[in-house]
Amino acid sequence: MSSEPHPLAETGPVPVALSAARKIRISEASRHVGELVELQGWLYNLRKSGKIVFPIIRDGSGMMQCVAVKSNLPEPVFEALKGLTQESSFTVTGTIRAEARATGGFELDVTDAKVIQRVSEDQPYPITPKEHGVDFLMDHRHLWLRSRRQHAAIRVRHEVIAGIREYFDSHGFTLVDTPIFTPAACEGTTTLFEVDYFGDEKVYLTQSGQLYNEANAMAFGKVYCFGPTFRAEKSKTRRHLTEFWMVEPEMAYADLDEVKRVAEELLVYLTARVLENRAEELKILERDTSKLSSVRAPFPRLSYDEAVKLLQTKGSEIEWGGDFGNTDETLLTEDYDRPVIVDRYPAHIKAFYFQPDEQRPELALGVDLIAPEGYGEIIGGGQRIHDLALLEARLAEHRLPREAFEWYLDLRRFGTVPHGGFGMGVERFVAWMCGLEHVRETIPYPRMLYRTRP
Ligand code: 4AD
Ligand code: MG
Repeated sequence: MSSEPHPLAETGPVPVALSAARKIRISEASRHVGELVELQGWLYNLRKSGKIVFPIIRDGSGMMQCVAVKSNLPEPVFEALKGLTQESSFTVTGTIRAEARATGGFELDVTDAKVIQRVSEDQPYPITPKEHGVDFLMDHRHLWLRSRRQHAAIRVRHEVIAGIREYFDSHGFTLVDTPIFTPAACEGTTTLFEVDYFGDEKVYLTQSGQLYNEANAMAFGKVYCFGPTFRAEKSKTRRHLTEFWMVEPEMAYADLDEVKRVAEELLVYLTARVLENRAEELKILERDTSKLSSVRAPFPRLSYDEAVKLLQTKGSEIEWGGDFGNTDETLLTEDYDRPVIVDRYPAHIKAFYFQPDEQRPELALGVDLIAPEGYGEIIGGGQRIHDLALLEARLAEHRLPREAFEWYLDLRRFGTVPHGGFGMGVERFVAWMCGLEHVRETIPYPRMLYRTRP
C-alpha cells in the first residue's frame, strides 16, 4: 500500500503554490488592497509595451489586469509572461492596488508568476475576439462558456435558480423530487421521448413533474419540484429546447386565483433579485434594465375571450378556440411593460387535467403568464380536476392508458381537494432577464432539434 498522502489531504505542499502569498479569488480583491496575494487563472488578454507587459487574468470570479515590469522580475518570469498565449493557465503573485480606471477597479503589481500550461501556437485557442458564427460557437460550447457574455448569462441563470429555491423555501413549500423515467404522458402524447427500459416496459422521459407533484401536495400541502424536463418537439424556434429546466409548485386547497397570485409574486421577486444582485452581468449583456424595473404587481389580467378580441383588433387572424402563436403572444404584451396573465382557455386546446370553469364548462381553469418584449409564455399552470368521475371521463376522451393513471385517480378517491400549481421554464425566464435572442445561451449545454453535442 502506498504511504503517499491522499491528493486532497490538506497537509503537504499544494503543487502550484508559488509562495506564502495568500490565494484569493479576484472577486475578493477589495478586501486585500495592499496585500501580497496569489491569483490562479487563465490568460484573457495580453498587452505589451516595451519593458512592461499587462496580462489580464480571469479566474472564473472576475478579471484583473496585472502589471509586470521587466526590471522588477527575474528574467525567466518576465519572459514567460511575455510569451503567454490566450487561455494559457498560470498563477501570478503580486500586490493589489486600487486603480479606478481598471476593469474591476484593481490591478496587480506582479512579483512572481508560474505558467501551468502554455497553449501552443500550433493549436491556438479557437475562439478569438473576431466574429464567429453561432454554429461554430455552439460546437465549442465547452470553451465558449469562458467568454464574458456567456459567463454572464450563466451567472444570471445561477441567480435565478438560487432565487427560485429561496422563494419557495421561504414560503412554506417543501422540495419533493419527481421522477424522470415515467410510465405516462403529462403534456400530450405527441412530444414524448421513449426510452427502452430493459426491453419489455415502455417508459418516457418526463415532460413535467406535475402529476407526482399533485400526489406530493396531498402529502405536504405545498410542494415544488425542480429539474430537467423533456419535450420531443420538432420546433426550431428561439424559445424551444428538447431538454429544459422547469420549476413546478403545487398547492392543495388552492384555486386558480391563488395560482395566479403565487406566479405573479414569484416573477416580481426573481426580477428584483436579478436586478439587485446581477447588475454587472446585465451590463456585460448590454441589457436595457429599465425594461425590467417596471416588473411590479399587479400584472394586467385578461381572460382568453378578451385576449382573442384584443388580438383581432391588432390584426391577428386568431379565431375563438385557437391557440396563440408566437406572434400573438408578442402582440398581446406589446402595450404593457410587465408580463400579462391570461386565463380560462378553451378546454380542447389544453391538457386533460384542467378543472372546467363552473359557469362555462367549455373553458379550462388554466393560466399562462406571457413575458413582454417577445419572450412569450414563461409560466403555464392552473387548477386541476379534483372530481374522480370527471377525471376518468377526460382520460378516456384523451385516449390515455387508464392503468398508467390508476395511482393518479387514487388522489381523487382518498381525500380529494381543489388544488393547482404551475410550471416556469428557467431558460425562457433567463433569456428574458438577459435580453437574449435565443434560449440556447441560457443553459450550459443546450439540447435542441439538431444539437445534442458537446
Ligand atoms: O405550459 P407547460 O407545458 O406546462 C406544464 O408542463 C405543466 N404541467 C406545468 C404545471 O402546471 N406544473 O410548460 C410550462 C413552462 C412554459 O410556460 C415554458 O416556460 C416552459 O415550461 N417550456 C419550455 N421551455 C423551453 N423549451 C420548451 N420546449 C418548453 N416547453 C415548455
Ligand atoms: Mg403551456
